[in-house]
Amino acid sequence: MKKVLSLILAAALMLCFAACSQQPASTTPDNATVIKMGTNAAFPPYEFKEGDAFKGIDVDIATEIAKELGAKLEVVDMEFDSIITSVQKGEVDFGMAGMTVTDERKLEVNFTSSYATGVQVVIVNEGSDIKSLDDLEGKKIGTQLGTTGDIYSKDDYGEENVVSYSKGADAIIALKGGDVDAVIIDNEPAKAFVAQNEGLEILETEYAIEDYAIAVKKENTELLDKINAALEKLTADGTIDKIIANYISAE
Ligand code: ARG
Repeated sequence: MKKVLSLILAAALMLCFAACSQQPASTTPDNATVIKMGTNAAFPPYEFKEGDAFKGIDVDIATEIAKELGAKLEVVDMEFDSIITSVQKGEVDFGMAGMTVTDERKLEVNFTSSYATGVQVVIVNEGSDIKSLDDLEGKKIGTQLGTTGDIYSKDDYGEENVVSYSKGADAIIALKGGDVDAVIIDNEPAKAFVAQNEGLEILETEYAIEDYAIAVKKENTELLDKINAALEKLTADGTIDKIIANYISAE
């Protein structure tokens, strides 16, 4: 009887070993849960790459949120245009990319409370005859595909007048080369691009004022609540302000 029991035990143990060793590599070495952030790391100072490392306001805030959730952050870089679909499919847990809350996007994903304000601005070559939004009429406008700047300018100035690039930086190259007459993009990346490139300026007029928030899959209200709680804490204790001040100097 004893022998039978130990045989069964041994068999059970073996089964367990087999099952355990078949576990996919989903567990990280340090055994922390991984939380995946979908972003487009071509949008300084919110997200950008320095060598292989992801940096920026969103990356730092997401790192703190992950800590609050007891998880480890993994950044997944993709086209801005793909982030919402990726969130919907569950390929990433949330999307964070200086992403503007819009009514259209609210139909596709849920948004957390807002953690920053964005402004769509117009960049032109210094000395351009474009001085105001009205002057954009009939001009060629460069944008980043799928962004609010892209969507709104196609509406306001006609699809045939807007050239959508996969990266904001590519729109800037087109502006410098004369392929487009203006670029419409969020103010902080605009400032970064103008600082990196000589001969560009940002018009005084603001095209649109918007709220940035984190996109979560509609069904995943548990995660939405957790991120909102984390955001609330990180706002109250000054962490978010500190992170933003690390990248943006107060005017
Ligand atoms: N705020 C704009 C939008 O939501 C542009 C965001 C672009 N972000 C990025 N990481 N490329 O449409």
